[in-house]
Amino acid sequence: MDIGIDKIGFYVPKDYIDIVELAKRRDVDPNKFTIGIGQDKQAVPLPHQDAVTMGASSADSILTDEDKKDLGMLIVGTESSVDESKSTAAFLMDLLDLPEDIRAYEIKQACYGATAGLQTAYDFVSLNPDKKVLVIATDIARYGIKTPGEVTQGAGSVAMLISQNPRVLKLNHESVYMTKNVGDFWRPTFSKTAFARGKFSNEIYVEFFQTLWAKFQKKYDATADDFSTMLFHIPYTKMGTKALRTLEGKVSDEKYAELTEHYQNSIKFSRDVGNLYTGSLYLGLLSYLVNGAKANENVLMFSYGSGAVGELFSAKIQPGFEQVIDKQALIDMLNNRQKITIDDYEKIYQIEYKNDTIVDPSTVSDKFYLSEIKENERIYKKMK
Ligand code: HMG
Repeated sequence: MDIGIDKIGFYVPKDYIDIVELAKRRDVDPNKFTIGIGQDKQAVPLPHQDAVTMGASSADSILTDEDKKDLGMLIVGTESSVDESKSTAAFLMDLLDLPEDIRAYEIKQACYGATAGLQTAYDFVSLNPDKKVLVIATDIARYGIKTPGEVTQGAGSVAMLISQNPRVLKLNHESVYMTKNVGDFWRPTFSKTAFARGKFSNEIYVEFFQTLWAKFQKKYDATADDFSTMLFHIPYTKMGTKALRTLEGKVSDEKYAELTEHYQNSIKFSRDVGNLYTGSLYLGLLSYLVNGAKANENVLMFSYGSGAVGELFSAKIQPGFEQVIDKQALIDMLNNRQKITIDDYEKIYQIEYKNDTIVDPSTVSDKFYLSEIKENERIYKKMK
């Protein structure tokens, strides 16, 4: 039975900052940020936007009533959860009008969460072929103003509907994975911002990719020639380039040129959004689908979540995927955002809603929003 991604949707907040403006304000050569790090714009979430509202928006963009009836499970991968107890998935049940007879929960393992969700969805559909699984990746990447990680922040959500006979991407059921207790990046429960050993995290990322690629080749008797594209977790677009470069000289020049060209197509969206944490690999997939993918291409996907878990798995782009993805709507969503100043971004960054907050709906332009915090409970609403 073929199982994989039948639909894929995306949401990004409407506000963004320009990375050159950020560099100038931080007294950094803009080339460091645009070339050295590889970013152009950074999504800025508003205080009434969070993992719940963004997750609702990306899922709402793909779900039909028919899909909802077929749903057996909802898994949310996030490391930006709004509650230490209640899952983001539970909040989404009424916002998305989902049926009660499903399993709904959240998975946390840094940027790996959505991949854990995807593989669990694969297993679930194998056992329940008539059911579908909704996997949502939703996160706000925050390191803090004037930190080295600031240039790699971002926010947004990717939603994927997993089913049999998928129309976008078939998972090939070829996968290798590894886990190690590593202190490369962490966010204690008291902190809204992450802590990172930046350079060390880059090294671990590359080390995981190299180890898993060696394992994958051995396990499946595979070579780079089996793939026309490699998609990477993209915390910032230079990071995937660093992993890809480890293949230079080890694969033919033609193969390396092809992989590099396809990688460039996969990072177009991330350059304009920033790190989505657990959604980043899947934003790369979406960018590739919109900017150059061909039917029947075999792709290799590298998922990495600090702490750290890595997984390398293969998949096949399905014939007719173009009919399932609304390319123009995705491009319009990115193009129709508004640039805000660095001053405004810094002001928004400081706002933190506390108990007894009521959000004025006239200040909200999204369908889903945090409406109120009462008795320390977050209450969400959908615009009529
Ligand atoms: P930094 O120390 O400010 O930057 O922090 P740098 O000095 O390493 O410079 C960055 C690059 O810019 C270098 O290129 C410089 O040469 C170049 P590289 O050697 O790396 O190829 N450069 C210039 N290029 C052109 N013109 C110039 C110029 N000047 C310098 N004038 C760092 C960079 C990424 C460490 C920092 O932003 C950071 O800590 N980021 C957060 C951590 C991170 O994203 N790590 C990635 C791996 S871990 C991961 O992916 C998991 C994660 O998503 C979390 C999760 O799983 O939940 C983060």
